Amino acid sequence: MENRVKKAGVAKLEVAGKVVDLPVYSGTVGPNVIDVSKLYAQTGHFTLDPGFTSTGSCESQITFIDGEQGVLLHRGYPIEQLCDKSNFMELCYLLLNGKLPQKTEYDAFLKEVKHHTLLHTQQDRFFDGFRRDSHPMAMLTGAVGGMAAFYPGAVGNEDPAERKLGSIRLIAKMPTIAARCMKYTMGQKFVDPLNKFSYSENFLNMCFSVSAEEYEINPVLARAMDRFFMLHADHEQNESTSTVRLAASSGAHPFAAVAAGVACLWGPSHGGANEAALRQMRAIGSVDNIPEFVRQVKDPSSDIRLMGFGHRVYKNYDPRATVMQKTCHEVLEALDMKDHPQLKVAMELERIALQDEYFVNKKLYPNVDFYSGIILEAMGFPTTMFTVLFALARTVGWVSQLNEMLDDPTQKIGRPRQIYTGEAQRDYVPISAR
Ligand code: CMC
Repeated sequence: MENRVKKAGVAKLEVAGKVVDLPVYSGTVGPNVIDVSKLYAQTGHFTLDPGFTSTGSCESQITFIDGEQGVLLHRGYPIEQLCDKSNFMELCYLLLNGKLPQKTEYDAFLKEVKHHTLLHTQQDRFFDGFRRDSHPMAMLTGAVGGMAAFYPGAVGNEDPAERKLGSIRLIAKMPTIAARCMKYTMGQKFVDPLNKFSYSENFLNMCFSVSAEEYEINPVLARAMDRFFMLHADHEQNESTSTVRLAASSGAHPFAAVAAGVACLWGPSHGGANEAALRQMRAIGSVDNIPEFVRQVKDPSSDIRLMGFGHRVYKNYDPRATVMQKTCHEVLEALDMKDHPQLKVAMELERIALQDEYFVNKKLYPNVDFYSGIILEAMGFPTTMFTVLFALARTVGWVSQLNEMLDDPTQKIGRPRQIYTGEAQRDYVPISAR
């Protein structure tokens, strides 16, 4: 990656009577950054930023978010335009390669992805080791990490062809693995990929077709699936992506690093929020119970949060939530489920929360997970699969970011420091003398 940061000035910092100059850099858009990488060498001090609320960890040219304005750009293209005019496979090409493909490049990319959709038959046997009631995210974490055993060559970080093949393999096999996670918990036979289908159609077929009868793919649902994948494809240096970068910074196998990302995504504050949001809407039950629920969320002594609301970066409406809400209406209309009980609860919750001082003052708006659970449930996915679908979609983001990191000459092994408040040095006392 060619580094493009520009020097924009100098920040002065006075520490213990000494003034040091810290370089300030600007990117293409977004806030400038203060480079503190030499701070310890210059002053003997570290910075402290739990949760990294003010810390940039890398230079990146993939995704830009303006949280105040509610803007999300992939390689400069707004997410709304991409969702309207493009498709998930083209977005994958864009994220991986930095430009939209020509027709021949697009066709070649599709062919390559389709060529790698099958799993090694030994990998299918992995699943037999799991209990049938295992959470699909537990199986996904294991299966993705296990891929490193089948493709040990992909560790060749220096070999661009090997790395490209590793990225394609992950993107191609993730739907097959994800669908197997679902089929396994349902006790149904695995369905192999069929390359006559598009990426999203193939995934739906692997999840929902059974040998006993013909499965017809509803084009509205296939489009909704594709849009769901697009909306979750990348989101700059979020928790799971940072986890993937950190894990890979040690030189770990890329598939193992992505498995670490899957594990991180599982948490309810990150990818697990779509599952948690739907469960919460189900528990609320009807619109009549919303005022009491909102009262509980606002109660300072309770730790209940409105799931699917709020975001570390967006202090405005999450642009992905807007597209998701529209898609939700399309799906429910296509399935003749316009009276879906959770949709009613969601819309009323959103209306009330957006007028309530608590949410307004804290700038809490619906995020991508608020409506996605309703769509996925209506499509027939079990709740425990929701985060698996997020992981499937985010795989392209993880590998794009991982490749960018490996190509960045300024990147080092990720190793934060701390402020230590434990015991100072003391002498060991033998157990008989304590
Ligand atoms: N409901 C009620 N209060 C909230 C919520 C919420 N969903 N989110 C934040 N707050 C309050 C929080 O209690 C705190 O209040 P106070 O200042 O009085 O202590 C204030 O807002 C700031 O919260 P924070 O936890 O310091 O903010 P954060 O940036 O660390 O958290 C978040 C971001 C996404 C973890 C949080 O908003 C949250 O827990 N939301 C619910 C879970 C969720 O929907 N997650 C999906 C995120 S989008 C998908 C993804 O990218 O993974």
